[in-house]
Amino acid sequence: MTETPRTTAIATAPLDVVTRILQLGLAVFGIWAWLTGAGWIGAGAADYERPDHFWYIQHRWVGITFTAFLLARILWGFVGPADVRFVNWVPWTRERLRWVVEDVRSLLHLRIPERPTHVGLSGFVEALGLLAFLWLGLSGLSNAITITPGVKLTAALPHLIKHWHQIGNVLVPAYLILHVGGTVAHSIVGRQVWKKMLFLE
Ligand code: HEM
Repeated sequence: MTETPRTTAIATAPLDVVTRILQLGLAVFGIWAWLTGAGWIGAGAADYERPDHFWYIQHRWVGITFTAFLLARILWGFVGPADVRFVNWVPWTRERLRWVVEDVRSLLHLRIPERPTHVGLSGFVEALGLLAFLWLGLSGLSNAITITPGVKLTAALPHLIKHWHQIGNVLVPAYLILHVGGTVAHSIVGRQVWKKMLFLE
């Protein structure tokens, strides 16, 4: 059967409470982890090898909480309601990818795509975001296990994982720009998606 944005299960269904809570947790702890990791607030998580490693410890616990929310969101993507289940929206089919390309073309012509949540470009950005954050969460968990606060990390593999964890410095702001930009664009065309997330609708 041919799929169209209107016939997918996700076209009109309201967002369930669990998804909204998980999304809020991801936003709060993700931004907090970024700010404390990169040192926008405090000394940054790179103080892990110093005798005083307050900011690393804070970053570690915020990161672990974030990862718990993320793993719950991923589980919810398999067992949750139809509208948030990955199988119904991740753009891996030819048709869904076509909508993504159409949306990019619209933006290039300065037209904001009008599609249901998770369909087209917004679904693509969301899927990439989940993958990027999964890496940050899992590499962070590896750091939490392999780092002894106050001691320099020298073992080769843990050090390599920690090194690539630092890509969060680019991934988080890049994702925020795309995601917030999309939300603002939706608001401009009269779809106040952000209100749903904050339980205002
Ligand atoms: C799960 C527990 C986590 C632990 C134990 C952890 C540990 C660390 C450590 C040790 C650093 C310093 C790396 C260095 O400079 O050598 C760091 C940096 C960083 N972390 Fe995490 N992290 C965790 C989760 C997260 C999460 C979930 C995010 C994002 C959502 C994140 C984002 C960052 C960022 C942006 C940096 C700064 C990188 C830089 O300045 O180059 N971390 N983290």
